[in-house]
Amino acid sequence: MPRRFLVTAALPYANGPLHIGHLAGAYLPADMFVRYLRLQGEDVVFICGSDEHGVPITLRADREGVSPREIIDRYHGLIRDTFAAFGIAFDYYGRTSSERHHQTAQEFFLTLHRKGVLIQKTEAQLYDELKGMFLPDRYVVGTCPVCGFESAYGDQCERCGSALSPLELKNPRSMLSGSTPVLRQTTHWYLPLGRYQKALEEWIATKTHWKPNVLGQCRSWLEAGLADRAVTRDLSWGVPVPLPGHEGKVLYVWFEAPIGYISATQEWAERIGEPERWKQYWMDPETRIIHFIGKDNIVFHCIIFPAMLMAHEGYTLPDNVPANEFLNLEGQKISTSRNWAVWLHEYLEDFEPDLLRYVLAATMPETKDADFSWRDFQARVNGELADVLGNFIHRTMTFAWRYFGGRVPELRNPAPIDTAALMSLLSYPERIGSLYEDFRFREAVFETLNLARLGNKYFNDTTPWATRNTHPQACANTLYVSLQLCAALAVLLEPVLPFTAERLRRMLRLPEQALRWENASRPLLEPGHELGEPKVLFHKVGEEAIARQLARLHTMTEQAPMNTPSSTAGAVLPPLKTEQISYDEFARLDLRVGTVIEAERVAGTDRLMRLIVDLGLERRQVIAGIAEQYSPEQLLGRKVVVVANLAPRKLRGLESQGMILMAENPDGRLALLSTEAENGAVVR
Ligand code: 2FM
Ligand code: ZN
Repeated sequence: MPRRFLVTAALPYANGPLHIGHLAGAYLPADMFVRYLRLQGEDVVFICGSDEHGVPITLRADREGVSPREIIDRYHGLIRDTFAAFGIAFDYYGRTSSERHHQTAQEFFLTLHRKGVLIQKTEAQLYDELKGMFLPDRYVVGTCPVCGFESAYGDQCERCGSALSPLELKNPRSMLSGSTPVLRQTTHWYLPLGRYQKALEEWIATKTHWKPNVLGQCRSWLEAGLADRAVTRDLSWGVPVPLPGHEGKVLYVWFEAPIGYISATQEWAERIGEPERWKQYWMDPETRIIHFIGKDNIVFHCIIFPAMLMAHEGYTLPDNVPANEFLNLEGQKISTSRNWAVWLHEYLEDFEPDLLRYVLAATMPETKDADFSWRDFQARVNGELADVLGNFIHRTMTFAWRYFGGRVPELRNPAPIDTAALMSLLSYPERIGSLYEDFRFREAVFETLNLARLGNKYFNDTTPWATRNTHPQACANTLYVSLQLCAALAVLLEPVLPFTAERLRRMLRLPEQALRWENASRPLLEPGHELGEPKVLFHKVGEEAIARQLARLHTMTEQAPMNTPSSTAGAVLPPLKTEQISYDEFARLDLRVGTVIEAERVAGTDRLMRLIVDLGLERRQVIAGIAEQYSPEQLLGRKVVVVANLAPRKLRGLESQGMILMAENPDGRLALLSTEAENGAVVR
């Protein structure tokens, strides 16, 4: 009997495109796991969808001055298509704005209400009189009572990390109007989490197999004691509270979004014409429910949503929540507001999806934060995919074509080395499979590549180019065995490199039905089987391609503040960096004073200005992203501070031979630093 699984991946907010952090955090591991289960013949449904309510959506809409509907329609489509392009093979990708979701979430709320679970409380909350609305926590900024940071949010101080409530902030300001909010009474429904504390503790105590990072967070929430949590909000965008007299209130996004997993499963069941089928996945305790998420979602999936399900009754609790840590980019935290990100739809303009899938899988932030760098991308693609995997397959295929007419030769009187290589087929699939079952994706990928490493070594050790003349049967045996390893790889690679695995399968002329995990354990190709034409599976990534990506990353980041909306009300200072540098590291910068002696806009851009700066000892051309802040006239004759030893780079085909230092106001406006020092003076 196949085992039954419901696999979900966190519903991404439809408020922006996806970046590599999304992929590495939840969607790639979920997809690899699901593909592995499908190859094992398990009964699995893979569910996801766009999270289309909540402050992330309305903040974006407010900033752009458009409706939330416009935002979600724009990004739902982009996100869905990006997933598809990366081979993330959901059985169903829904959206929480759907009618079915609204209905399911409302019914869920009503059930809790009818059972007397929810408590109604009237409390004072901050209200923006100018805008005429209660302010969600994220719409309030003020001074942190813990560290004095002046731009802390109503739910968290981004400098000291303290969790806050908006009422704790000193000098609170509304991010919408900049005005000082007033306190006003409002009534909300609360989920009394404390009532489920004991049941949650007992349940989590059975989860000894969960990842330590997940258990750690659960324990610290439970140790702190669970408090009542409001499940409604005063907002116009969201799922309306389905009770009379509650107009203008919606369900809290973190109450309804996880119910989105259920409603999307219902929509899937309707689509396949078996509308009741969803119940098997949510209500039969035999089904293993696995939630793939990033670490910022742990409490919602391991404490709050399970408490909701317990309160509702009838639903199965998750079997596992293999949350990942975060992925950094080139040593820094990914930041969408600073545009410090590799956007997935942009990546696809330059490279194949499988390359990124491989690199992210091989470096996945499974147990601790990990880093993506373009250099590492290049090194892994060239050194592992091209030189190890691609090379093994290519040398085997071309040899088979050149000397065996493109057919699988016969194995006769195999030598011990041939038998040993064939025996590895028995151990690899099992070992890799148990790594997938344990959510150890990095190791699973490493072991999969090891089979190709083994193949290369076997090919080298058996020297078919020499035995071809001296011992033709030994040569045939080498090719027989090598081709069987290639066929096993076509199966074993599928979870991580689905597009490549498909090409390899076609190249080997393996039927689709052959793609079963168990088939990787035995010789799949019969002697005499006709092979397809050899094709190169991976091309090396050159220096220029990497330099282009790095330049794009840095240019876009410099330009990001200009892209941010002009409203200053929501402006927040970035936290001070905690990572220290030595004086020597600082002293490597050659900072000099200079005077702008030429300034002109770069044609075809709104932002770039071409400047000639006199540094006393020499003149430099600098391309700076300041044309939206300063006119050429304002710049001529201005003193500036220049990073004089920054490696030159090209922007719009123009070489920039330094960088002008500018201060970035909290709202993204840039300002030059002023100085009265002479040209060439050293800044330190
Ligand atoms: O953190 C996020 O991006 C949320 N949109 C995840 C929601 S997961 C689920 F509960 F819907
Ligand atoms: Zn603080």
